[in-house]
Amino acid sequence: MLIKRKRGWEMPERDATPEALFLDRRNLLKGAAAGGILASAGWFGLGRAEAAGEPDPSASLYPAKANAAYALDRPVTAEKLATGYNNFYEFGTDKDIVDRSQALKIRPWTIKLDGMVEQEQTLGIDDLFKKMPFEERLYRHRCVEAWSMAVPWTGFPLKALVDLAKPTSGAKYMRMETFEDPGMAPGQKQFWYPWPYVEGLTMAEATNELAFMVTGIYGKPLPTQNGAPLRLATPWKYGFKSVKSIVRFSFVADRPKTMWQTLAADEYGFWANVNPDVPHPRWSQATERFLGQSGRRPTLLFNGYAEQVAGLYKGLEGEKLYM
Ligand code: MTE
Repeated sequence: MLIKRKRGWEMPERDATPEALFLDRRNLLKGAAAGGILASAGWFGLGRAEAAGEPDPSASLYPAKANAAYALDRPVTAEKLATGYNNFYEFGTDKDIVDRSQALKIRPWTIKLDGMVEQEQTLGIDDLFKKMPFEERLYRHRCVEAWSMAVPWTGFPLKALVDLAKPTSGAKYMRMETFEDPGMAPGQKQFWYPWPYVEGLTMAEATNELAFMVTGIYGKPLPTQNGAPLRLATPWKYGFKSVKSIVRFSFVADRPKTMWQTLAADEYGFWANVNPDVPHPRWSQATERFLGQSGRRPTLLFNGYAEQVAGLYKGLEGEKLYM
């Protein structure tokens, strides 16, 4: 039997379609579905529980105070685009995973802090939130597939979580892991992907001021399709580093092998820093399609965040920093 395997992030026909057309088509399909109002709850950035009238237990944390240090050189992407055009392979390899991702149960949700730490901890997500300094930041987001957006994320600096974990001096990297539950996430039944989704950062990257744990978007709790209840944002790196729906942070001595490295090491590396001059093996990274705008815009080195992060890579020039 021939099984067609996708090699990694692809640029399918749908991705080449202007997203307004794609989303219109999606709306048309929805309109045709009988009584589709609840089914399209995710369209407006609502999770299933909220759509059913149950408030998200963290709702009182929103909106958080905006941190003016993180301003943008471009307009914020429309909410319906940022919450309606997603990559979340646990729910399918297409961009249209809003409805399927509503199956993700985000309470109860526990977070494990383990590995090289003073003491391992397991925390309920709302207990963790109570300990963290919440704020809103405007960030650019650049997917390796050469599309981008600009979004108001709510959350807290990753450094605050590192401080809570108290890693010992032997910890050189942080490994992050997404939930694993094929019953909830049918994509995880696709055995040729090495689940769970794993990502990693050096401790210097994890404690850089830009590394941000995201809990909300557009002044509201994060909807499931964007990686509720907790996902990463490292805006100077390609979006596949921004691991979604995290359950475990491990502090380790050796560089973690990420899911995408296991799958296609020649295309997706550990560092994945944005660089317009280093093409992906199958396409250019020089320009990007900004969701909601026609035409393409030039891609910026480190996605425009060189001032904050270029220093992290001094002495590492021999590494494949841009794939
Ligand atoms: N995390 C998990 N667990 N699974 C995924 O498929 N996709 C990544 C990243 N994090 C992904 C993930 C990719 S390629 C991108 S571009 C961003 O999530 C997309 O985030 P968004 O849907 O909020 O735009």
